Amino acid sequence: FEKSKGFPADFLWGSASAAYQVEGAWNEDGKGMSNWDKFVRIPGKTFQGTTGDKAVDHYHRYKEDVKLMAQMGLKTYRFSISWPRVIPDGNGAINEKGLKFYDDLINELIANNIVPMVTVYHWDMPQALEEQYHGWENRQIVDDFVRYATTLFEHFGDRVKHWIIMNEQNVFTGLGWQAGMHPPGKVDDDKTFYQVNHHVFLAHAKSVLALKKLYPDALVGSSFAYSPSYAYDRHPENAMAKADYDDLKNYYWMDMYAYGRYPRAAIAYLESQGIAPQMEPGDAEILKEAAAKVDFMGVNYYQTTVVEYNPIDGVGTSHEMNTTGKKGTAKVQGVPGLYKNPSNEFLPTTDWDWTIDPMGIRMCCREITSRYDLPIVISENGLGAFDKFEDGKIHDPYRIDYLKRHIEELKKACDDGCRVLAYCTWSYTDLLSWLNGYQKRYGFVYVDREEDENSGTLNRYKKDSFDWYKHVIETNGEEL
Ligand code: BG6
Repeated sequence: FEKSKGFPADFLWGSASAAYQVEGAWNEDGKGMSNWDKFVRIPGKTFQGTTGDKAVDHYHRYKEDVKLMAQMGLKTYRFSISWPRVIPDGNGAINEKGLKFYDDLINELIANNIVPMVTVYHWDMPQALEEQYHGWENRQIVDDFVRYATTLFEHFGDRVKHWIIMNEQNVFTGLGWQAGMHPPGKVDDDKTFYQVNHHVFLAHAKSVLALKKLYPDALVGSSFAYSPSYAYDRHPENAMAKADYDDLKNYYWMDMYAYGRYPRAAIAYLESQGIAPQMEPGDAEILKEAAAKVDFMGVNYYQTTVVEYNPIDGVGTSHEMNTTGKKGTAKVQGVPGLYKNPSNEFLPTTDWDWTIDPMGIRMCCREITSRYDLPIVISENGLGAFDKFEDGKIHDPYRIDYLKRHIEELKKACDDGCRVLAYCTWSYTDLLSWLNGYQKRYGFVYVDREEDENSGTLNRYKKDSFDWYKHVIETNGEEL
């Protein structure tokens, strides 16, 4: 057993994006309508009614964006493919122009020595499937998804080795069927939420198997939005609440990806409430078989959570999130009888009330290593902030500080023996923050646009963090 220090020599320093948030060209070259194209048109759903119609125009400016990535020395670029761009109605004809866009992007990355890391599903589902059979609610989607994924594997698998099947299944299902903040906009529909998740797990598993059949050497996993938890204090009730929380909110997804089964205590609770998912004969075997072939756990890390016991008459789940950028407007969430999630007075927060907790990234890696012994891809980590554009310059010391402190902790995780393969910041260029418009910026590259679709030149400008990250990559994380 060789003990190494710091980041491995072949570490993939990267950055990430998602199709809907950067591409734009929402109805060009044969692309079909997505559930998001539809959802953002419902008044009041997004900050000032922003859409991804144009986004940051990556569809037309990808060469300029890749050129900037090359200048930075980026080792990997994680991006997602839009299902309705490739199969406009979800299960019918393939749109060759859609495939061509991704061919061009992938070839451009490879020509610039940047490893393409592809997310198969980052939330934009063909709207036609919603209309045909209510999308993820219907088990039929599993076959349609696997056909879509297999189309990508067959077409790009000769050049793409790193695949992330699902992005934040826990987030798009929670916000879609419990909080009503993502399509299809349903509230408190817990039974459907768990059934939808079962379909997504099957789609993930069958896609993993399809990929490995075609390309046994490909590396595959799904990305989980992981918020490690702290018990509120040493009271045993709060320790038990943490165990409930972890089974229902964390292990429920990670155990399935890594072990191919649900945590027993979570299923026992869901059964007691009459909301457990219905499984069909053969499901358990497929989920297990795929889990044995998963190569890494993808982690999107932003924040940690505090867990406190919540009496039966305590706070119910609150769906009010801070989407305004005005500090202190987030509400306490909770499940009566199990847990609630108060704020953490020991940690600072962003303007959107997300706690800033660099040590949490090390905790994610440690927990995954102990529980699953899997390699880890940090597929997202970053700071959403208001940036100021002054005389062509953007000074973002707060972003540098945030990333620096997270990378320091990630380095400790490597020293602890965790096998971390990649670190992707969120995001490369500024992009649409789904519900928060363009005011919440994450990129190393500033994009000149605001909420109004006709605002700005869409020109790109390097922020101070651009040169900083370039140096981090050059020194393989030794000089931060
Ligand atoms: C993750 C998503 O939830 O966090 C990204 O995978 C998203 O798509 C990012 O943009 C930041 O969230 P937000 O709400 O600040 O844009």
